Amino acid sequence: MRTDQPQTIYLSEYQVPAYLVDQIDLRFELFEDGARVHSTLTMRRNPESGAPGQRLELDGDSLILESVALDGQTLIPDAYEEADGKLVIADVPGQFELSVVTWIEPQNNTRLEGLYKSSGMFCTQCEAEGFRCITYYPDRPDVMARFRTRIEADRQSYPVLLSNGNPVEQGELENGRHFVTWEDPFPKPAYLFALVAGDLTEKRDSFTTCSGREIDLRMYVEPRNAEKCDFAMDALKRSMRWDEEVYGREYDLDIFMIVAVDDFNMGAMENKGLNIFNSSCVLASQDTATDATFQRIEAIVAHEYFHNWSGNRVTCRDWFQLSLKEGFTVFRDAQFSADVGSPTVKRIEDATLLRTAQFAEDAGPMAHPVRPASYMEIANFYTLTIYEKGEEVVRMIHNLLGPELFRKGSDLYFERHDGQAVTTDDFVKAMEDASGRDLSQFRLWYEQAGTPVLTVEDEHDAEQGIYRLIIRQTVPDTPGQTNKKPQHIPFAVGLLDEHGQVLPLALTADEHNAPTERVLEITGAEQVFEFHGIEEPPVPSLLRDFSAPVRVRYPYTREQLLFLMSHDTDGFNRWDAGQKLAIDVIESLVGEDDGKEIDPRLVGAYRTLLNDTSLDQALVAKMLQLPSENYLVELADEADVPSIHHARERVLQHLAVSLREELLACYQRHQQAGDYQLTPEAIAGRSLRNTALGWLLHIGDVEALALARSQFEQADNMTDRLGALRALVNSGFDKERTEALDAFYERFQNDPQVVEMWFSVQAASFKMGQLPHIRHLLEHDAFDWKNPNKVRSVVGAFAGQNLPAFHNPDGSGYGFLADVVRRLDDSNPQIAARLVTPLTRWKKFAPAYGRQMRTALESIRDKKGLSKDVYEVVYKSLA
Ligand code: ARG
Ligand code: ZN
Repeated sequence: MRTDQPQTIYLSEYQVPAYLVDQIDLRFELFEDGARVHSTLTMRRNPESGAPGQRLELDGDSLILESVALDGQTLIPDAYEEADGKLVIADVPGQFELSVVTWIEPQNNTRLEGLYKSSGMFCTQCEAEGFRCITYYPDRPDVMARFRTRIEADRQSYPVLLSNGNPVEQGELENGRHFVTWEDPFPKPAYLFALVAGDLTEKRDSFTTCSGREIDLRMYVEPRNAEKCDFAMDALKRSMRWDEEVYGREYDLDIFMIVAVDDFNMGAMENKGLNIFNSSCVLASQDTATDATFQRIEAIVAHEYFHNWSGNRVTCRDWFQLSLKEGFTVFRDAQFSADVGSPTVKRIEDATLLRTAQFAEDAGPMAHPVRPASYMEIANFYTLTIYEKGEEVVRMIHNLLGPELFRKGSDLYFERHDGQAVTTDDFVKAMEDASGRDLSQFRLWYEQAGTPVLTVEDEHDAEQGIYRLIIRQTVPDTPGQTNKKPQHIPFAVGLLDEHGQVLPLALTADEHNAPTERVLEITGAEQVFEFHGIEEPPVPSLLRDFSAPVRVRYPYTREQLLFLMSHDTDGFNRWDAGQKLAIDVIESLVGEDDGKEIDPRLVGAYRTLLNDTSLDQALVAKMLQLPSENYLVELADEADVPSIHHARERVLQHLAVSLREELLACYQRHQQAGDYQLTPEAIAGRSLRNTALGWLLHIGDVEALALARSQFEQADNMTDRLGALRALVNSGFDKERTEALDAFYERFQNDPQVVEMWFSVQAASFKMGQLPHIRHLLEHDAFDWKNPNKVRSVVGAFAGQNLPAFHNPDGSGYGFLADVVRRLDDSNPQIAARLVTPLTRWKKFAPAYGRQMRTALESIRDKKGLSKDVYEVVYKSLA
């Protein structure tokens, strides 16, 4: 057990930095047994600081301090103090130069924060607080400095030496060593610093900006990955053009670089001019990446590129403002993905993630506002709430202002705050000033945690031709927050008549040419909206396009849902009506015996979807997916996972058996003709085929088995090959499944990204991924505890997706996860803390499960020397 409780940091205690850094000169001497870092800081007292005295405090972590010099004079050890992760110099002048030499051991850095080694190369991850693992520094985002970085290393092993900005000098050194010096003209916080040194292949391209400047684009990857760069490079160019066209943002340096790294805690990092990516989020080819992977790569490349303005040029004042850059940038990348793909499908995917995982977070022990008020370890706050709910908050501003005023607001924001470190409030203020709208109540979205609930009632007054919506709003209590105020919610609605025609929404009796969709602004605890000229009771289409991240309660009948499924003009709500119907059917079977009838209307609805080829196939592909077990758990009160799994399974089997002919026809209809393409239509076609195949194999269809085997062998792309493999893995055909898994591994064993897919297909499968097999995968040659992707692909997939196996009634899944967390806590606390997530939800489950989950959490709590990261998550979960 940890004896000292980690400190909590509060937003309310924010103080401006006492000292500023104008310039930092870095010299890295890279060796096999460590690295020496020479840092010279040009500093001055911050005129805005009220802190008394001449005391200088710098942050440091895991550093061996070799020397400190003030204005060229080496300090004797009495002149400074090294304690609790700080270097303190009691007495510094108003302006001075501080030189610090530290020794670090990148080769032993398993936390993957700061400077570390991955597959033989040196690389960095400094966000949020990794720079302090490199040298002593005021490691906070409101200290912005110009960086000059000289890297020295063995020329043969590390021919490529990269850092931020432009290369300004290079040359040879003694003993086969060489150096390159980089200079970044834009002042930046230390979290945006990056360094890479390795034997990497370079891929070049270029981009001409809107003002005619030619930008040198480069990707650096290990030589074996040279053929997997094209897609990301094209995505980068599309992103650069899009940001010019949609936001008026031009790239500002002469060179933009992307590096792929195998060992990486997160997806990617927007370091100025030198983005570093997890290999799995950037490398792709038709043979090795699925459609979903291509789309993820495109979105992440765009995301990191967009950060150059929303994050780098305008950055965060402190880490409580993280969503300032993340929420806004996720919104920007979502707009981009919608523009280049299918907007409805993108919205469905984002809302699914939000409702499944962010709502769960918002209802759990780690719930926090989009702008948190406190934290122990900031790495724990790279959450769905900061990113995805943060995105929704920006989207709501966009919905409230409309695209023109929103653009005016973003222009003002970038112009007003260029080169500054600011707050979410500054962002909202710019939106207010540009639009003239009052967003004071809206700001509660940043301050209050929890998912608002809208309870909707309606009544129809036939005599007066008035239809009323009565809307009540509550915001649930969350840890540390009760009695919340009503929030400002844009609530998009439409009304359909009995023929499925949209009705004009006249708010007064004499309103003519009223629109057929309105964004109602919910601001109170209870509000009534009246629509005039409505002669018959309509069917309401509520929260269209998921216009706000809220839960809506309205007692739809199954008839109404079937009606919306085929008539709603809002694609999102059409899909959502199908989900609601399926959920209602599944929920009615949970805990019932297998004799209970499954509503035949569900089969009828799915039959229509499969048969009607005039429907948008991308939407149909989404509509055919049953709600996930994770979402069903999220909706349940005291979730009993085996019962939920069983009920969902019954529905799936019933659909597959009843619709066998339609599924086979759908499969044949979507046979790929011609070359592999990444258009929304082609993606939808593959998705439909693979869903059909999966369902048919699920019921042991022998004809489908033959189709799966030939698809597996003949596929010219990974979506189809993996689709067939997944269908086989989840089938009862043991022999064919083993053959396919072996063949797949044989073929792709040298490709880590594909091996990760191979792991997770098994770990996420209830048919295969029982605990003994999971343990077996951990013993596999290709598994590596030091590689976060591998850990995620086995342990993360098991605990996060294979719910009935993880929630084995004997508690073995929980004990296993606790063992893994304790093991990883020493080597990589960030990853360990993330893996705890499924256990934090213990209150959500039926008591027999919850109790055992709690016990597993306690066993983590009692580990000796628990990291701050895991401590915070476990402590808050047990509170
Ligand atoms: N800023 C990165 C992004 O684009 C995330 C990096 C966070 N890394 C970390 N180790 N906490 O979203
Ligand atoms: Zn980001």
